[in-house]
Amino acid sequence: MYLCSMVNEKSNLFDTQSVRLGLLGGGQLGRMMIQEAISYNIEVHVLDGDPKAPCSTIATTFTTGSITDYDTVLAFGKDKDVITVEIENVNIEALEELERLGKKIYPQPRVLKIIKDKGLQKQFYQDNQLPTAPFIMVNGIKDIENNVNFIPAANKLRTGGYDGKGVTLIKSKADIKNGFDAPGVLESFVPFTKELAVIVARNASGETVAYPTVECEFSPVLNLVEFLFAPADISEEIESKAKKLAIDVINKLDMIGILAIEFFLLENGDLLINEIAPRPHNSGHHTIECNNTSQFEQHFRAVLNLPLGNTDIITPGVMINLLGEEDYNGPAKYIGVKEAMSKKGVFIHLYGKTTTKPHRKMGHLTVTSNNLSEAKQLARGFIKTVKVIA
Ligand SMILES: Nc1ncnc2c1ncn2[C@@H]1O[C@H](COP(=O)(O)OP(=O)(O)O)[C@@H](O)[C@H]1O
Ligand SMILES: [Mg+2]
Repeated sequence: MYLCSMVNEKSNLFDTQSVRLGLLGGGQLGRMMIQEAISYNIEVHVLDGDPKAPCSTIATTFTTGSITDYDTVLAFGKDKDVITVEIENVNIEALEELERLGKKIYPQPRVLKIIKDKGLQKQFYQDNQLPTAPFIMVNGIKDIENNVNFIPAANKLRTGGYDGKGVTLIKSKADIKNGFDAPGVLESFVPFTKELAVIVARNASGETVAYPTVECEFSPVLNLVEFLFAPADISEEIESKAKKLAIDVINKLDMIGILAIEFFLLENGDLLINEIAPRPHNSGHHTIECNNTSQFEQHFRAVLNLPLGNTDIITPGVMINLLGEEDYNGPAKYIGVKEAMSKKGVFIHLYGKTTTKPHRKMGHLTVTSNNLSEAKQLARGFIKTVKVIA
């Protein structure tokens, strides 16, 4: 009796109670998904290793357990109908077994396997004629030393990296010592003019939608998103090229769910795929206020085979991450929030993480305005005034 009423397009019945949706990972992405799922009376059962994870207080049920442990994931999935993720680093073998048992796993374990490993990801682009920077696989520093002709380059851990933590730029031979002495990818340095991102969704019926392209400005120090501008300041031609490429990627992956595609834009207008993520993404947080359907609502629409939502822009916006301040560890306290709240079009999202540490993503803030340059100016001010300390 798989989701008979929810996915049968011929039925008018919208029966969320008969669907048991399991979510691996209980962080902020899951939390924002649950916030949207509540409006549709969709129950979300969450598994996470941290009993105080951001989803723990709002999930329909919350199970404390490791999402990378085979037995734990298998046991968690056995009484669910549909299982999804908010992070790629999960036990894929258990998901494959659950798939064999007839569960719907979206994104599919096959897709997670490719995306979880930056080496397989790059190989996938190459095999499918998708544009990406030249690369070679390396096993550690020795291999980098043996390939100096590839420098300047970015060295990326094949697995386990996130928020810039698994990436290091090797600009010259002298930087080789900063490389990872572990299996990685060595990718030619890309002299991009902008970093863009597009989120696309695809459901089991094969319906696809794409969000308007956004522009990410990275912190040069931390290597993670500092500002997100929506929509991106690019020509219509590049906009449609980016969307078309993004849809092409999700179709070629034959993936169900939502997929974020990060692009490098080159001076000549070419786009290279940097990396992809098969879940809600930091580059889509603004969609909560700025688009007709948020990425979080779109995620469960896609995995439950519901009609996909309209992605049109309601208002332009700028998003900034609220990161734990340098030198503060401990119970989180927030400053500058009230002043930010008093401004028109400012929306605060705190993730409910009890403790802060340097650079930890603790929340985000979106400034909406019909005048994007005004929003940018306000956001640049908030970077200095809204802080997470202990
Ligand atoms: N080949 C490259 N050339 C230049 N900059 C790069 C390259 N690869 C990554 N970067 C920079 O590092 C950032 C993080 O790399 P990315 O592969 O997206 O890892 P993460 O998983 O941490 O997001 C990118 O957004 C970009 O700013
Ligand atoms: Mg990235």
